Amino acid sequence: MLTVMSDTHHLLIVWHSKTGNTERLKDAVLKGARHPDIENVEVRCLHTSEAGPDDLRWAHGVLLGTPENFGYMSGQMKDFFDRTYYEVEDELKPLPFAIFISCGNDGRGAVREIRRIVKGYPFNEVQEPVIVRGEITEEGLERCEELGMALAAGLEVGIY
Ligand SMILES: Cc1cc2nc3c(=O)[nH]c(=O)nc-3n(C[C@H](O)[C@H](O)[C@H](O)COP(=O)(O)O)c2cc1C
Repeated sequence: MLTVMSDTHHLLIVWHSKTGNTERLKDAVLKGARHPDIENVEVRCLHTSEAGPDDLRWAHGVLLGTPENFGYMSGQMKDFFDRTYYEVEDELKPLPFAIFISCGNDGRGAVREIRRIVKGYPFNEVQEPVIVRGEITEEGLERCEELGMALAAGLEVGIY
């Protein structure tokens, strides 16, 4: 039997945005993850409503992006966890992951609560969260681009 080995790494981005700010961050994260110098990483970028257990089974690394709402992640990001936890609980190896947040003036509650939940998956946080407070700035977009690039490059060279 012929076994074909693939060295392609899979990076999953799951995001939600109500008014478009986190979506802009996601675009920057995606741009970084798809940097032309990174050749062996396939990126799957899904709105929370489209993402499910099979996407987590496919992934070798995960990026999660959400607004902070009422000191928490968005309801749709929570729904993504609710819909996937039991389905993948016993199947996943620890996955490298990182968080990006758009918020008014805080963001820490969303980060804290995502961290609590992902302990159960389990994910390993390999980069500091990117929190962009207030208006989306070029500097914030650059940090997101760097985050996407860091995850993809890290998967490619096998440091995670
Ligand atoms: C219902 C609601 C609750 C919010 N709660 C918080 C909050 O607890 N902390 C904060 O910093 N910003 C809060 N915000 C501000 C949003 O996080 C901010 O506007 C963010 O950029 C929205 O991202 P989006 O455009 O991707 O939906 C809240 C906004 C809404 C609409």
